[in-house]
Order: sequence, then C-alpha cells, then structure tokens
Amino acid sequence: MSRIRILSEDLANRIAAGEVVERPASVVKELVENSLDAGASLVSVEAQGDGTRLIRVTDDGCGMDADDALLCLERHATSKLEDDLFAIRTFGFRGEAIPSIASVSLFTLLTRPADAELGARVEVRYGRVIKAHEIGCAAGTVVEVRNLFGNQPARRKFLKSRRTELAHIDEVVRAAALANPAVRFRLVVDGRTTLHLATADSSLTARVHRLLAGKLSRDLVRVAGQAEGVEVEGVLLAPDEDGAGRQPLRLFVNGRPVRDYALVRAVADGGRSFFLKGRRPAGVVCIRIAPHLVDVNVHPTKQEVRFRQPAQIFRLVAGAVAQALVAYQQARRQEDFGGRGKGAQTCPPGKGWRPQPFSSPPVEEPYRTEGQKETPDVSLAEPPPDSPPLPQVRPAPLEREHDTRAAGRPFVRVIGQLFDSYILCEGEDGLVVIDQHGAQERLLFEKLRREYMHGGVRRQALL
Ligand SMILES: Nc1ncnc2c1ncn2[C@@H]1O[C@H](COP(=O)(O)OP(=O)(O)OP(=O)(O)O)[C@@H](O)[C@H]1O
Ligand SMILES: [Mg+2]
Repeated sequence: MSRIRILSEDLANRIAAGEVVERPASVVKELVENSLDAGASLVSVEAQGDGTRLIRVTDDGCGMDADDALLCLERHATSKLEDDLFAIRTFGFRGEAIPSIASVSLFTLLTRPADAELGARVEVRYGRVIKAHEIGCAAGTVVEVRNLFGNQPARRKFLKSRRTELAHIDEVVRAAALANPAVRFRLVVDGRTTLHLATADSSLTARVHRLLAGKLSRDLVRVAGQAEGVEVEGVLLAPDEDGAGRQPLRLFVNGRPVRDYALVRAVADGGRSFFLKGRRPAGVVCIRIAPHLVDVNVHPTKQEVRFRQPAQIFRLVAGAVAQALVAYQQARRQEDFGGRGKGAQTCPPGKGWRPQPFSSPPVEEPYRTEGQKETPDVSLAEPPPDSPPLPQVRPAPLEREHDTRAAGRPFVRVIGQLFDSYILCEGEDGLVVIDQHGAQERLLFEKLRREYMHGGVRRQALL
C-alpha cells in the first residue's frame, strides 16, 4: 500500500499559513496589500490586544461579488496572476493569503463592488465556512480576523509582548503608507487612533516628514535616478541631522517593502563620503522597475526580490544617492554663505574668505579642536618622544604640520570648512585638508595613550 498521501485542504492551508502568517502584523500586511491591489484610496486598520484578539482592515476598493467572496477562500484562487510570473504588477499573486489567514482564525469578510446593490458576508471558523449570505453594506471590503492562532496554541507561544506585536503592526502600516503616498491610512489600536495620514500628506516627502523625520528633521535629501526600465526615487534624512543615523532605511521595490542587504549597501556606498563613521543613510528609497526585470516570487512573504541585472541597479542607486548628497551639500553651502553676499563667495581662499558656520580661530593661530584646548599637551603634531610611530589618519597634512612644528612654529592657517566634515587650511606649499572626525579620534587616542604611559587610563568599573 502506498505510504504517500495527498494532504487535506485544511492541513495544506495551515502549512501555508505557517509561512505567510507568522504574527498579527503579517495578517495586517496581507490584508493591506489586498486593499491596495483593490485600488483603495483609504485603508483603515484596527487592532485590539496584541492583534490576536482582533484585526480589522477596511477599504474603499473594488470589492468582490458574492461568488468571488467565496472563491477567494480557496487556495490558489487569485484575480491577479495570468500566466507570466514576470509580469506581476500587484502585491499579491499567490492566491494564498486569505485561505491561510482564514484557516487560523475566526474570519469574516464583508464586501461589495460599487455597482452591486447588495454585498456579501462570509463567516469562516478556522478554515470552515459556517455562514454566507447577501447583505447591505458600504462599497469596498471589510475583513475581520479574530482569535488569531486560536487553533494553534503553539504558534501563539512564539508571539512576543503586546507592545512588540503592536510595534510590528505599526511598522507594516507605516511602510505601506510610505510606499503609497496617494493613499490615506489610519491605524486604530484599542479604539485609539495612533496614526492618521490624510491626503494632505500625499507626497513621498510629506510622508517621510510625518513618519520618519518627526521632530528632528528640517532638511531632507531628495534622491532621483533613472536607467532603462528602472527609476529610483527617495528621500533621505540629511546626514547632519542629529539622530538621522538612528532612523531606519526603508527600501521598496515596486511599492513592496523589501529586505535586501545589497541594496542597503548600495545606499550606504552612495552616502559613504557624507556620513560620519558609524552612521548610515536613513529614509526611504523606492525602486520602480519593469516587472520583467525583477523576480518577486522568491519568498512566501515576498520581502525578498531578485533583480535580473543586480549590478546595474546597485550602481544606479549608489550613484543617485551620492549625486543627491552632493547637491544637498552644495545647496547647504550656498545657504550658509548666502548671508555674506556674492562677493564673499567668490573671494579666493586665503584672501579674507571665511565660511560662516565654522568659527575659526584668528588667522595666525594654529588650528586647535576643543579637545586640544582642554589638553594642550596632547597634539596632533607631537607624539611623545618615547612612543612608536602612529598610523596617520590623513598622512599628508599631518606630516606637513609635524615638520613645521618641529621647526619651531605652526604655520597652517584655517581658511574654511568643507561639507561640515573637513577643515581646509593654507600651508606653505598649498592646501591642507584635515578630516575633522579623524583628527578628533587621533586626539583622543593620543590622550588615552599618554595617560596609559603615565600611570594608567582612568576608567569606571561596570555596575
Ligand atoms: N480587499 C479586497 N478587495 C477586493 N478584492 C480582494 C480583497 N482582498 C482579496 N481580494 C480578492 O481575493 C483574491 C484572493 O486574495 P489573496 O490575498 O488570498 O490572494 P492574492 O492577493 O491574489 O495573492 P497573495 O496570496 O499573494 O496575497 C484576490 O486575488 C482578490 O481578487
Ligand atoms: Mg493577497
């Protein structure tokens, strides 16, 4: 007798649910994506408890007729995929989300297309349809998911605290709102509206201001780039914004939030010269790409994609980010110098030209950072005589300064500051560029080494 058997529909659904529905936030993601695919202009998400008690997603999209309201509960039933997996323009295409969610919850669907007189209501109990009837209701769709994982206690145990689960839900709604600025979103948790994004916020920049930049940001950097079949649009928080580096970077491919390490690296590469060590670009980068150039069928949760020509995409993204940051820095510089009038800008360096933001010491003074003032015996130029040579952060300028200090007198004169990161000095033979950040690190290093040489570094024991 054959040992192999075909799994029951119910079991197959629950296995699929294991992949698609990991936690309450996955339900929100699938239902919101369905609403977006249905052309909704308003998506409202309600959650109760940690999301397992209730998730309700309401939209004003195209709705379903009574037949489709039942059909959508079948596995592999979709209106979104013809034959070609490389022509997908919708978020969904697998026909799995609704049956998966319905198999692990008490599920209710209420839906009506705008041109139908009556809508349909279908009630499902852990995968089994228990009621289906016509009913008067608003055009669009309402999906209610109660008692999620009620038939899978083991799954419930893997859920985290209420706060964490709600944070995941919040993140899903925010991501959808960033990727779809023209759609209004609302998130209501336990009866309290926690997020309300109206049409007035309907540009990507406005959404980034609302959702990411919050209180901290005044400046945003707009990213744009184009190649054949690919378009990059983004909004990054300005590199010099305090706290920008702690914000996340969100990536979207054709409106789909994706996790793609190579793309994150491409954005970081583009921003490399503009961010201080340890900081990275934050904000949103959206890639719009012809469907035949990207494979979205990589993972059941669709959070990964594969590009046909990854190198081209990464170059485009890195280039667009770098270009945007250069333009931003230039604009900032112009703004900074603007108050001094045109003449001041065109005055050649070294002949009285002083950029405004940098409060440089008097012209004949050697450049000192704050650290140097406090610890005058520690200097970039004079390592203790008994110490081995140190690796130089910026070899040329430091050596130059060292030579002249050894000759008895410092000569570099500060003439300005570049990109808020480099100090420009006039030396005997020309321009000396000091990496502020590197110099500061070097000063601290020298200070610590000196303390170490003279009896040990002060430290605090861990509590
Ligand atoms: N909010 C909605 N408004 C209108 N139609 C919907 C809505 N939600 C689901 N549908 C219909 O039900 C079908 C099944 O939805 P389901 O989410 O299970 O699959 P899918 O979206 O096609 O693919 P995937 O499993 O990848 O999400 C959809 O193809 C769509 O036709
Ligand atoms: Mg779907």
